[in-house]
Amino acid sequence: MDRSENNYYYNGSLSAAESDVPLTEPERQYFFMDKVKKIVENKVRDLGRPLTFHVTTFGCQMNARDSEKLRGILLRCGYEESEDEDCDLVLYNTCTVRENADNKVFGRLGVLYGYKKKNPEMLIGLCGCMAQEEVVTDRIRKSYPYVDMVFGTHNVYMLAEILYQRFDENKHIVDVRESADRIVENLPLERKYFFKSGVNVTFGCDNFCSYCIVPYVRGRERSRRPSDIIDEIKRLAADGVIEVMLLGQNVNSYGKGLEEKTSFADLLRQVNEIDGIERIRFMTSHPKDLSDDLIRAMAECDKVCPHLHLPLQSGSDRILADMNRHYTKEKYLSLVDKIRNAIPDIALTTDIIVGYPGESEQDFIETLDVVDRVKFDSAFTFIYSKRTGTPAARRSDQVPEEVIKDRFDRLLTRVRADGEKKAMALTGKTLPVLVEEVNKQDEHLVSGRLANNSVVHLPGDESLIGKIINVKLDSCKGFYYLGNIAE
Ligand code: SAH
Ligand code: SF4
Ligand code: F3S
Repeated sequence: MDRSENNYYYNGSLSAAESDVPLTEPERQYFFMDKVKKIVENKVRDLGRPLTFHVTTFGCQMNARDSEKLRGILLRCGYEESEDEDCDLVLYNTCTVRENADNKVFGRLGVLYGYKKKNPEMLIGLCGCMAQEEVVTDRIRKSYPYVDMVFGTHNVYMLAEILYQRFDENKHIVDVRESADRIVENLPLERKYFFKSGVNVTFGCDNFCSYCIVPYVRGRERSRRPSDIIDEIKRLAADGVIEVMLLGQNVNSYGKGLEEKTSFADLLRQVNEIDGIERIRFMTSHPKDLSDDLIRAMAECDKVCPHLHLPLQSGSDRILADMNRHYTKEKYLSLVDKIRNAIPDIALTTDIIVGYPGESEQDFIETLDVVDRVKFDSAFTFIYSKRTGTPAARRSDQVPEEVIKDRFDRLLTRVRADGEKKAMALTGKTLPVLVEEVNKQDEHLVSGRLANNSVVHLPGDESLIGKIINVKLDSCKGFYYLGNIAE
């Protein structure tokens, strides 16, 4: 295809002189959903088959939640959901936290082009965190001309409007906004699970950890109004949801800038009161903002699960300061003591980065020391990835690959051994499990989670999905248990 044929334009606002377009949200988006629906209906009639879509999600829970919004809008527009990407509209909701996340997406776009060559109806869209980066939009424009729509994290809610422009003006759309001008509530949404749901409490991040791209692609931290959050969870409960996961890059700083002063601890207490909700989880906590009141609220609220994900990143004070994390090794360890004193059976999980620029063997040994002292239930370990535009990427003292590899392997061995020991301690006990799905490898088994987030597999069928049942944990296989329904 000749690249010059591609007619991209930015910040697409409607060119047609449509006087009836509402100026308020979400009314404006419902207006465009109706418009797209008419186009889809006409196509369905002409083609004699449904139009299908698939949303592929990369990255974190925040993206997973955004994908539910994208799916909700597309279903409302009259599209049918397809199991695979060989369909009429594919959206890649992307992540850019590490370089390999980007590479995965560029690799897969080629596969989509293969489908598109066979299906003239097919549209391809790229949205999410990668789309916020100019290097990515430039590369798409130059080398991936078959991508029809690119939009960012700040205008996910505008999918119907963007799609309408794509159909109406037959142009490629790149609509990426610098910042979020508002939080749009009450748009359609299609949940992946009927019994559990993510709930956004904050968007964006103001912490600017020196290695991290998230504040650049997700914008400034904004908190949703407590009443909007509570109303959403009440509606979810009325709809059969029993577990909610409160979502934010740093939920502990919830409430900044709100008219009604509410802390995250206050919010947890309010959510704990909602009838029908049985389990409350949250992601992620920043150690610098984990207050005593939040620890008290976690201990008091019976529905809050005994699990805390508390990213450590490094155990070296020197590296932590350079990372702009605002805590020390001792501060982290004392937080862990406080939490374990208040909630003795709590599962602690963490994130650790290996090979941050300038990390010496001594710095790494400090990290291992924290791991040895805390004994995490599990830890996500990441090799440092250089993200263009972040302060750490500009440093000249990047750690050589083979040194990183060696440290990574040593760290992994330790965290695995701790995780296994921790898991062994619960073997033989009978504990409540929320069954989530039929096991992917063995259809005679179902899989679920303990309150502390550990995975359990047990014999059972679909009818158990969404139920909390008592399960005897017969054996422990490293990171998961095999069990049976208790008599
Ligand atoms: N807001 C969350 C996590 C966001 S990203 C928090 O602060 O905890 C999830 C994890 O990815 C981080 O905790 C960090 O360990 C890792 N990460 C972020 N940027 C990275 C980078 N450039 N290289 C390697 N790992 C990174
Ligand atoms: Fe990234 Fe730090 Fe914000 Fe987490 S708190 S998203 S690691 S900048
Ligand atoms: Fe990735 Fe964006 Fe989440 S960069 S980790 S999907 S906020």
